[in-house]
Amino acid sequence: MTSPDFATVDEAIATNLLGPWRMSAAFIPLMQKNRWGRIVNVSSGSGALHSMGSETPAYGVTKAALNALTIKLAKAVAGDGILVNAVCPGWVRTDMGGAAAPRSVEQGATSVLWAVELPDDGPTGGFFRDGKRVAW
Ligand SMILES: NC(=O)c1ccc[n+]([C@@H]2O[C@H](COP(=O)([O-])OP(=O)(O)OC[C@H]3O[C@@H](n4cnc5c(N)ncnc54)[C@H](OP(=O)(O)O)[C@@H]3O)[C@@H](O)[C@H]2O)c1
Repeated sequence: MTSPDFATVDEAIATNLLGPWRMSAAFIPLMQKNRWGRIVNVSSGSGALHSMGSETPAYGVTKAALNALTIKLAKAVAGDGILVNAVCPGWVRTDMGGAAAPRSVEQGATSVLWAVELPDDGPTGGFFRDGKRVAW
């Protein structure tokens, strides 16, 4: 944390923040044309400011930034039929989560898909896990 590997930080910013931001910028004009869209930023509890520890700083800081991007984008497209939310899949048994994680890939994916399948009057600009709002 106090002597970071900035190559790792740069990579995390590119992957966790700039990738979703560029992707959103590319697709939003098409979504606005159709007056319908869902942007689901796959975030993490590690990016929640209220419970942030010192571990995995590049990951946590960039997921917090992704959460901030979620709020900004949601407000920018409000009224255009586009819902923008951040979701946490929970701790999942993937390459990243490892074998000790309590959740299956299916459970993690379900938490994400909830925000993909939102009805038109669904929430926007929020942070969710398993369809329930979680604290930023
Ligand atoms: N697993 C968890 O417990 C957990 C918890 C909270 C949030 N999440 C989030 O859930 C999402 C999926 O994570 P996961 O657990 O499925 O991780 P994973 O098993 O490690 O898979 C990560 C995926 O991201 C791709 N990737 C990594 N760096 C990339 C880059 N620079 N450019 C393009 N693709 C890149 C990898 O591609 P390659 O296979 O080609 O390397 C891989 O397909 C992530 O956003 C993660 O932060 C996971």
